[in-house]
Amino acid sequence: MTSKTVAELLKSDFKSQDIDIKGWVRTFRANRFIALNDGSSLQNIQCVVDFENTDEKTLKRITTGAAVHIKGQLIESQGKGQSVEIKVDNIVILGDSDPETFPIQPKKHSFEFLRENAHLRTRTNTFSAVMRLRSTLSFAIHKYFNDNGFYYMHTPIITGSDAEGAGEMFRVSALDPKNPPLTEDGKVDYKEDFFGKETNLTVSGQLEAEAYAMSLGKVYTFGPTFRAENSNTSRHLAEFWMIEPEVAFMDLAGNMDLAEDFLKSVLKYVLEHNREDLEFLEQRLLDEDKTKPQAERSAMTLIDKLKFVIDNNFKRVSYTEAIDILKDSKPNKKKQFKYIIEEWGADLQSEHERFLVEKHFKCPVILFDYPANIKAFYMRLNEDGKTVRAMDILFPGIGEMVGGSQREERLEVLKEKMKALDIDEEELWWYLELRKYGTAVHSGFGLGFERLVMFATGMGNIRDVIPFPRTPQNADF
Ligand code: 4AD
Ligand code: MG
Repeated sequence: MTSKTVAELLKSDFKSQDIDIKGWVRTFRANRFIALNDGSSLQNIQCVVDFENTDEKTLKRITTGAAVHIKGQLIESQGKGQSVEIKVDNIVILGDSDPETFPIQPKKHSFEFLRENAHLRTRTNTFSAVMRLRSTLSFAIHKYFNDNGFYYMHTPIITGSDAEGAGEMFRVSALDPKNPPLTEDGKVDYKEDFFGKETNLTVSGQLEAEAYAMSLGKVYTFGPTFRAENSNTSRHLAEFWMIEPEVAFMDLAGNMDLAEDFLKSVLKYVLEHNREDLEFLEQRLLDEDKTKPQAERSAMTLIDKLKFVIDNNFKRVSYTEAIDILKDSKPNKKKQFKYIIEEWGADLQSEHERFLVEKHFKCPVILFDYPANIKAFYMRLNEDGKTVRAMDILFPGIGEMVGGSQREERLEVLKEKMKALDIDEEELWWYLELRKYGTAVHSGFGLGFERLVMFATGMGNIRDVIPFPRTPQNADF
């Protein structure tokens, strides 16, 4: 007797073997055919019950959602639609599922409804495919870095600094909110708090990763990141996972090469390892497209889109060139953009980024050399004195996928920038010391993992590619 998964059985060519399998009933048809799924594959395995020799009570308990234990034989399928099936000798109901109340019925459910049932939504094909792909992608990321000589480092989740300087942080405190200790001038006294200072959940592991790059050479982080920005969009989460490589002696051009090679490589990995799930998600998109007007349908299928990204060079464009393109663009001239681009220095909104990748270049774009005053303090100032060695990678349908830069390695220049932005030198004393002792050119970037999963799965809402999304007004489950 062998205990195997559905995936293994469907691949198995050893017929007539005794098998032992556990899973959940997707459907039970004609008092005879169970479609059984155990999460190992998109496919169900058909289990044929000999209803004449199975007691009535047990048959009644074979319902959608029930957990069952089946013993039987793997045989060549008698019917169409599958090559093997299980002839059931014995079935035990491990956990009943009341068909009257089980939320996941064998029919189409809206993604909104499934979000409210996030604990059960991976019982559907779409969500199990998405989450298997998410798992593979995450493995591919670790594999890529491991194959390329990077060390995986764990950066702190609780920190005293605001790496991005945007002030969008969740406070971490053990003080009694009803009765906090106060300073003489009536403010909350964080010296009395657990860490003896104000702390928050990290918005990025970059600053700490820089410290490790300046000794271990090539490092990366892959961890949870928190942003208290009140952006209720289909591309923002309050808790998301970020991948941040950081490399010593690498300049901005090297950073772009690394990011492009990395993205292509991990997408290639899922194409090679999750074909079945991708084909299912591709079909889902094609079906969804049929309900849309022609103009809104996608020009490429999901798999072709992934291949296109893998096979073509990303377009590298300076911020200055991008502004010229945008200023000259139809939606700018016709005032169709919400934010009209008037002059150099304007921050790019997602409508502009999407115009550049989806309408103008029609491929992933790396924008670089942004104005210093719209980017974070740690970016390397260019010789022109007004732009920094920043890069953002923009993807069709997603917008900003990656944000990175070459870091300011010159102590005096960094100090000046911090002063101008009112960033406390004492708070970041250790970060400044990295510029004092053996400083060198170094660069890195941050990739929003869920945005990559969105791209790879074709899912349109970031809430549908993370198991239990955290967004403004929502931290259920
Ligand atoms: O551009 P960001 O803010 O860059 C940094 O945090 C740098 N410290 C990274 C580095 O250089 N090491 O964030 C990086 C990426 C964005 O490009 C985006 O893909 C993702 O993180 N991201 C979010 N994803 C989901 N929800 C949010 N609220 C996000 N904010 C950023
Ligand atoms: Mg950014």
